[in-house]
Amino acid sequence: MNQSAALNDHWPKWRQRIDKCLEDLIPDTTVSPALLHEAMRYSGIGAGKRYRAALVYAAGHALCVAEDTLDRPACAVELIHAFSLVHDDLPAMDDDDLRRGKPSCHKAFDEATAILAGDALQTLAFAVLSDSDWHALPPKVRLDMLNVLANASGSVGLAGGQVLDLNMTSQDPTLETLATMHRCKTGALIEAAVLMGGLCATDDSATLACLKNYAQPLGLAFQVIDDVLDGTGDTVTLGKPAGADQERGQPTFLSILGEAPARQYAEELKDQAIDALGGLEMDTALLVGLAQFTVSRSH
Ligand code: IPE
Ligand code: IPE
Ligand code: MG
Ligand code: MG
Ligand code: MG
Repeated sequence: MNQSAALNDHWPKWRQRIDKCLEDLIPDTTVSPALLHEAMRYSGIGAGKRYRAALVYAAGHALCVAEDTLDRPACAVELIHAFSLVHDDLPAMDDDDLRRGKPSCHKAFDEATAILAGDALQTLAFAVLSDSDWHALPPKVRLDMLNVLANASGSVGLAGGQVLDLNMTSQDPTLETLATMHRCKTGALIEAAVLMGGLCATDDSATLACLKNYAQPLGLAFQVIDDVLDGTGDTVTLGKPAGADQERGQPTFLSILGEAPARQYAEELKDQAIDALGGLEMDTALLVGLAQFTVSRSH
């Protein structure tokens, strides 16, 4: 079986696991405050590619970790991602009305509810990893994962990258400035996902370094293709408004390089990511498949 076929075999099952797990982890709407829990469930469950969860499962799979053990780290990463999308769509940020094929959280509910649902999705990510009723991993491993996830989400990761992004509108950044912004806003969480899968099995620094060297170019490639798809895809396929970056005057890899060179750049990053896996003596087929998906995807 080639890498893509192997991935196609696993990914739909991972999506089901994540949805089932998040159904249990996000409080039900019978729990007060019902509206907040409704908004969290609306934005957290039932949609999205679950790409970051897939990275947790694939890295864990390479290191022979049981899927039961990987469920919570995968959910934690997806909760941070869901929070970031809710806030990214707000009027003060990208002001986008469509997300994952349905009205954005602030459209389906209201702005204040969306802000608070994002806040609560974020803190739930840390709660699920630190829960004393969850015994799958020792405290030291959980603490390491919490640290990785917190740093990836904060001012030197996702939140910092979003600030760089918002300050870049109508500017003419260099490719390196753009890449730095992408590495923070998108790459940091993707790197955290891969590392958290790895941390479930090992604290061996050489293994974790290989995983990092895979994840870093991959995270950048993911956002380069997101930029390309924003300008070349259609709204129905994307499930979010096509052409939104150009409408906002947002400099992107597409606007600066053009489509073919941007895709070529993503291909080179993908090759770098796959090369980094050469240092691991284990079955990395699913990680290779995810790298190939990153550059060939249509949404
Ligand atoms: C979109 O991420 C936001 C970026 C960081 C580019 P995804 O393309 O993974 O969105 P979903 O989870 O599939 O909706
Ligand atoms: C957002 O980047 C990255 C996040 C941290 C959410 P974009 O603004 O390009 O993401 P989309 O295109 O709205 O999904
Ligand atoms: Mg944005
Ligand atoms: Mg956006
Ligand atoms: Mg985008």
